[in-house]
Amino acid sequence: MVDIDAALDAAGLKNPHVREYVHYWADLTGAERVEVVSAADDTRLIAEALEAGELDPAGDGLYYSRSYVKDTARSEERTIVATNDEKDKGVYNNWRPASEMTSLLEERMRGASAGKTMYVIPYLMAPPGNALAPYATGVELTDARTVVLHMIRMSRVGAEFLEGLEDPNQFVRAVHVTGDLENLGQGTPDDKRYFVTVADERTILHFGSSYGGNALLGKIAHGLRQAAYDGWASRKFLAEQYMLIGIKDKQTGKDYHICGGFPSASGKTNLAMMLAPDVLGDRYHVSFYGDDIAWLWVDEASGKLYGMNPEYGVFGVAKDTNEGTNPTALASIAEGTQSIFTNIAYNPVTKEVWWEGRTPEPPADTAGWLDWKGAPIADRTAEQAGEPWAHPNSRFTTTLDNVPNIAADYNAAAGVPIDAIIFGGRTRDREPLIRAITDLAEGVYDGLTLGAEATSAAEGKEGVLRYDPMSNRPFMAYGEGDYAAHYLKIVGAAKEQPIFAHVNWFQRGDDGRFLWPGYRDNLRPLLWLLQLKNGEVSGRQTPVGIIPTVEELNLDGVDITPEDLETILTIDNARWQQEMGYREEHLKQFDNLPEEIWEAHRRVTAALEQE
Ligand code: GDP
Ligand code: PGA
Ligand code: MN
Ligand code: MN
Repeated sequence: MVDIDAALDAAGLKNPHVREYVHYWADLTGAERVEVVSAADDTRLIAEALEAGELDPAGDGLYYSRSYVKDTARSEERTIVATNDEKDKGVYNNWRPASEMTSLLEERMRGASAGKTMYVIPYLMAPPGNALAPYATGVELTDARTVVLHMIRMSRVGAEFLEGLEDPNQFVRAVHVTGDLENLGQGTPDDKRYFVTVADERTILHFGSSYGGNALLGKIAHGLRQAAYDGWASRKFLAEQYMLIGIKDKQTGKDYHICGGFPSASGKTNLAMMLAPDVLGDRYHVSFYGDDIAWLWVDEASGKLYGMNPEYGVFGVAKDTNEGTNPTALASIAEGTQSIFTNIAYNPVTKEVWWEGRTPEPPADTAGWLDWKGAPIADRTAEQAGEPWAHPNSRFTTTLDNVPNIAADYNAAAGVPIDAIIFGGRTRDREPLIRAITDLAEGVYDGLTLGAEATSAAEGKEGVLRYDPMSNRPFMAYGEGDYAAHYLKIVGAAKEQPIFAHVNWFQRGDDGRFLWPGYRDNLRPLLWLLQLKNGEVSGRQTPVGIIPTVEELNLDGVDITPEDLETILTIDNARWQQEMGYREEHLKQFDNLPEEIWEAHRRVTAALEQE
């Protein structure tokens, strides 16, 4: 057996709680070696992964990886929040008793890392020195080297982040064991996978995947589920699946900050990386703070609502990323950035990569090209010809330092004041381009009733409409009623209230095409929202919020017909009245939903009926 103490000593990890934790799991999983890692180990670990065939070279300073074919998305069905109190049971958190899940996972993990190295990854999910840093410290244990490489890109990794803990026992214990991927029965009644957050013990136990949010435990399990629970238990903060951007008005010198939740694979990363449209670029600049997670709290000194991104990197959807849609993303993954691609198409001869939408047509010469499963494209039968080369949920991983529009102060301890909170998702009809909401309870109500089409970021049927409260459905850690009350309390305590809005870039015509060009043009409705907040425009009041008039929106250079524009700036009253019935059913599932939320629902219903 390995000398664990020697490995911990060499890394300077003296915290006795950390040492005990590492010993316990190394022993239980039967790992052959223990290695403590930091960001400084990246070059060596990359070389080892290349040598072991876990990564392939994809150009200068770029790497390609493929995950097991049945392991390409987050598994919501197998994800569980466990606690010691049944009161924490919600509709979406798949609650189970802590003791039951802990013993079940220990059973799965026992001996399951035999022959492997257990990597110890000390990490911080916050800008150093941030007010919420005490909730942001964790130690992931994993038996997968590629998980280490992703964690180094996605979070701040190193033993130094464990130093100076006020309470040496206040770190999240996050254990990841890959398991025998080819024999786990993924998606069958005998599915062996479990992704568990034991929230009131601050322990995360994930077994049976090496992909993304199932395996990078700092990101979603800690950054969203555990933090949501901690934020509620401490009454101090919110942890949300939000992007966070700055918009600078160079003419007035003002800086604004907007955060917002869209379900996975619905546009957060693209919005955060947005380059202002050419005609607006002289006046406005968009800066990137975060693209997937924001923690929100009320700053003690100013009394304002503040937000920060706990992550250190981007795990972005590859599909449709190109020079036109998102030049910033392409620059972030250019040669030399040490980015890692997962499950796109790869050519081992030329070291090129490709994904759907990278160019209008796939490479004409298919020689050497392999699809995301590793099968030669040239060998495809006529039947297989239409299959995508890349998995629809294929991804790129890069650090924030590579993002050209990264905010100058992204790493500052303070975080940034929040001016607006937006919700959105893929909705093919009903939802207009933007509708603004000025009342807090109505804003929270709107978030709770976010309905959008399912995407490929999670296993299951794509395109099916489902409610996804605040885009947090897969990350809900406790009861939805308690969540709504906590949200109202945190945001309600801020001295200045943010404006809320619901946006939709995905309305479609009868022929299936998107009515709004989206991407860089999404800045336009956001500028209108800020103008509305500043009292510079007044919009048009509708029963479901304020929508812009055509004159108020800056549409200079936008490619859209007057008819399509009218459609996306119109409320279909009959359709909305029908929606209110569905919403009522949806909200009725939640225990202890605050009366303010029901009042908001009744107000909107009555306004629609009166119109
Ligand atoms: P995230 O997972 O929420 O961060 O979403 P991404 O920003 O990665 O986008 C997911 C998918 O939606 C990608 O294929 C994008 O190209 C596409 N997408 C993003 N923004 C827009 C938009 O404004 N319009 C359209 N039509 N597609 C978009
Ligand atoms: P996404 O992030 O929201 O950018 O898709 C990954 C995820 O939620 O799994
Ligand atoms: Mn996400
Ligand atoms: Mn994203």
